[in-house]
Amino acid sequence: MPKILIANWKMNKDLKDAASFIKAFKKDIKKIKNSAAVICPPFTLLHEMKKMLRGSSIKLGAQNIYFEEKGAFTGEISASMVKDAGCEYVILGHSERRQYFNESDELISKKVKSALKNSLKVILCIGETLEQRNNNSTFNVLQNQLERCLKDVSEKEIENISIAYEPVWAIGTGKNATSEQAEEAHKFIRSLLSKICNKNAAANAIIIYGGSVNENNIADFMRIKDVNGVLVGGASLNPETFAKICSVRVL
Ligand code: PGA
Repeated sequence: MPKILIANWKMNKDLKDAASFIKAFKKDIKKIKNSAAVICPPFTLLHEMKKMLRGSSIKLGAQNIYFEEKGAFTGEISASMVKDAGCEYVILGHSERRQYFNESDELISKKVKSALKNSLKVILCIGETLEQRNNNSTFNVLQNQLERCLKDVSEKEIENISIAYEPVWAIGTGKNATSEQAEEAHKFIRSLLSKICNKNAAANAIIIYGGSVNENNIADFMRIKDVNGVLVGGASLNPETFAKICSVRVL
């Protein structure tokens, strides 16, 4: 299974920055085999980035959507709109959306349904805070978030969902999860999936790690059997660094 490397640019880069990133990154990515790179820029760059990425294997993703199809929802953007802008993927349930925009599992589950209906592949983020980890409630939190966000999703639809395990305390802090912590969480998520969908689908599900991934620790994550890729924030903003992350090979 090719590893999936997702760049989450968050609220960074204008058109000029994006163009120079893509120019440099496209050269490096040509040499990279057996991994799939997805870039998730701000909404304003999507249409132009689609043009920039033409002819390359790099895919485009959005960082969020609203669940309604269209109408009087000032400031919101629908699944069909990001699809129209060239997206194949969408990140949903990111902890920054949960924290700063009060997104609940119920809201995220509606967004998941809308994304799937519009043939977008979903990258669903789940993860515990430091307080929850210290309280030994990590597994509980992961289970609740996963079950609630995947409510009403069919077994077949789960094939189009990747789960990103992103411990909140590891995001943007430089304090990544250890291999043991990531391995334990990923195994647990796979076992939860095997209760929601069939064993085969759970075994093939894409579960990726996110939280302070960089060019120095990427190999440690890629070595873990249940880690099928990574979601990278800060270290994805520089084309050389993200190319190094994408090129890591683990035997
Ligand atoms: P980070 O962000 O790599 O900067 O920790 C990861 C994320 O938020 O997805």
